[in-house]
Amino acid sequence: MGSFIEFKKVFVIRGARKILDDINLEIDSDENVVIMGPNGSGKSVFIKLLTGKFYPSYTGNNTVCKLFGFKRWNIEDLRSMLGIVTSELQYDFHNKITGFDVVLSGFFSSIGIFNHHIVTKRMLKKSDDIIEFLEVSSLKHKKFKTMSSGESRRFLIARALVNNPKVLILDEPFNSLDIASCVKFYNIMRKILSYGTKIILVTHSVSDVIPETNRFIFFKNGKVFADGKRTEVFNSDKLSSLFELKVKLYENNSSYIILR
Ligand SMILES: Nc1ncnc2c1ncn2[C@@H]1O[C@H](COP(=O)(O)OP(=O)(O)O)[C@@H](O)[C@H]1O
Ligand SMILES: [Mg+2]
Repeated sequence: MGSFIEFKKVFVIRGARKILDDINLEIDSDENVVIMGPNGSGKSVFIKLLTGKFYPSYTGNNTVCKLFGFKRWNIEDLRSMLGIVTSELQYDFHNKITGFDVVLSGFFSSIGIFNHHIVTKRMLKKSDDIIEFLEVSSLKHKKFKTMSSGESRRFLIARALVNNPKVLILDEPFNSLDIASCVKFYNIMRKILSYGTKIILVTHSVSDVIPETNRFIFFKNGKVFADGKRTEVFNSDKLSSLFELKVKLYENNSSYIILR
C-alpha cells in the first residue's frame, strides 16, 4: 500500500525555535506505528500538522507535505480514511451532550448534533454497534462531561470509528488513566487492531506499547531521532539516548516497563 503520510523537509518554526526540524517521514496505511519521545519533543505538533492546527513554516522546492497523496486537505473530508483522537477534543463538547450523541456526531465531523443534521437509521445502528464494540453500552445515555477519563476516551474513539477509518491516530490516550483503566484501554486497542484498523500510537511511555507494533519513530527536540523496526529501535540503548537517562527495558508477557 502507498504512503498515507509523506513528509520531506518539513519545518515548523515559532519565534527563533524550530519546534519541528527537518521532518522526513513516510508512513504506510498498512503499518502500526508507535511515535515516542519525551515531553515537548514535537509529537503533538506533528499530529497537529495533520489536523490543520499547524502548517509547515515554509515550503522550499524540496519540501513535501502530503496526506493520502493530497498536498492540501481538510481533515474532516478524510474521516473515512483517518481518525485522530486527542485528549483536547474532549473539552470541545458542551455540558449536556450524551455519550451516544458524541459518537453520532462523528458522522458529521461536528462537535454535537444540531437541527440541520439528518440522522439516519443506519447511523443510529452503527453508533450503537461501535459503542457495544468498545464495551460502553451501559454509559451511552450518560452525560459525556460527567464521565471518567477512560470512559470519555472510549466514546471519542467510537466517534472516530463510525467512519471505518483505515488508520486511527491516538495522541497520548493513556494520559490520566489509572492502572485498571489503562489495562481496559490497552485491551480495547488490541481489539480494534484485531479488526484490521491500523493504529498510530503517540506516547511518552513504554508501558503503552502494543505488541502488534513493528515500527518505532522516536522524536527528540523536534527531530526524528530514530526510525526503524522494533529490534533496531525499541531497546535499552536507544531509549537511554532518547530520554538522556540510563534505563533498562524489560518485557514480560507483551508488557513493557523501563527501569532506571
Ligand atoms: N502553539 C505553539 N506555539 C509555540 N510553541 C508551541 C506551540 N505548541 C507547542 N509548542 C512547543 O513545541 C514543542 C513541542 O510540543 P509538543 O509537540 O506539544 O510536545 P509533545 O512531544 O509533548 O507532544 C514544545 O516545546 C512546545 O512548547
Ligand atoms: Mg503531546
